[in-house]
Amino acid sequence: MKKTIRDIDVEGKRVFVRVDYNVPINAELKIVDDTRITATLPTINYLIEHNAKIILCSHLGRPNGQVEPKLSLRPVLARLSQLLNKPVSFAEDILDKSTAEMVDKMQNGDVLMLENIRFYKQEEENDESFAKTLASLADIYVLEAFATAHRKHASTFGVAKLLPAVCGFLVEHELEIFDKVLNNPDHPFVAILGGAKVADKLPVIENLLDKVDTVLIGGGMAYTFIKAIGGNIGMSIIDNTKIDLAKEILDKAKEKNVKIMLPIDNLCAKEFSEDAETKLFSSGFIADDYQGMDIGPKTIKIYKAVIKKAKTIVWNGPVGVYEYEKFKRGTNKIAKYVAKSKAVSVIGGGDSIAAIQSLGVAKKVTHMSTGGGASLMLLQGKKLPCIELIEDQ
Ligand code: 3PG
Repeated sequence: MKKTIRDIDVEGKRVFVRVDYNVPINAELKIVDDTRITATLPTINYLIEHNAKIILCSHLGRPNGQVEPKLSLRPVLARLSQLLNKPVSFAEDILDKSTAEMVDKMQNGDVLMLENIRFYKQEEENDESFAKTLASLADIYVLEAFATAHRKHASTFGVAKLLPAVCGFLVEHELEIFDKVLNNPDHPFVAILGGAKVADKLPVIENLLDKVDTVLIGGGMAYTFIKAIGGNIGMSIIDNTKIDLAKEILDKAKEKNVKIMLPIDNLCAKEFSEDAETKLFSSGFIADDYQGMDIGPKTIKIYKAVIKKAKTIVWNGPVGVYEYEKFKRGTNKIAKYVAKSKAVSVIGGGDSIAAIQSLGVAKKVTHMSTGGGASLMLLQGKKLPCIELIEDQ
């Protein structure tokens, strides 16, 4: 395992903590979901209790190196201060000398938040001198931004090379749980994969073929597979460049005795819209003027039985068009069955997590990952560059 804040003396030290407070914020600048903030509290509280001076750094959205007032971290600052029940100071301009002066004046246990790091174009360029400026503010680097650990940016990667670097508790927990399910899973191990982009998920299936017993496929990605086995998919979403690879993966799965299950029925619509006329079609027999929008009731029943027997579940991606109420049923049912199961369950991806949360069953799953892209990379068997920089214990 990687070194964590437990493995380093933080007493009286300036600690630069890269968090991921890229939280959904609505038009009234209200935080819609503060999970990513609350998930960092154990690390921040530990550092406060151990008399560190805490400098928090995060991005919010994709301002592309420009100052965008609606992407300011001020709403996050207010929420964090409320959660910590103490004032948190704010540095508007990281490159201005006032920020270094604020840091100099910090007392042990104080918390300071920097403004959105992506207001600077140097961040995503992983600019060396920008990373040096960030490093000059601190004695220790803590990686707590699991969700950004796949990005080689100045505040996630560049600065970590310049300071003694350790993980925070959120990152430690994410790594532990992914290590458990990927390297030491209890069987039957079932992967549920959905979402529209088959290109993201094919490497996941390839990597999991040596680990899982069953893969349940849903969502838009299913139609590339159904096409690959010669089915008629009507106007359903398809990635024509991936049909051959999908075929290859189905063959490999057979050789390895892994069951890849595709939907057997589909709720389809004439247009990609909530009000479109809908009809159920068996897989492979979708009419030319219809497209698949959700898994059908027979598929739901079959998938339910597989999920019920699982001892390990990894779920990433909705099995239907989750943004439309009418096509949420499949995903909500999967969420319900995963939550009901006694398996170790790890959920990743915005819509899958939203389904679990909307049913109020978050406490019933083992782990909801804070990282979409980062968790997908781990499932693909890839290393996260920012984690690799941190020494082993
Ligand atoms: C996320 O929300 O997945 C992370 O914050 C990373 O954001 P990014 O995709 O804009 O780098």
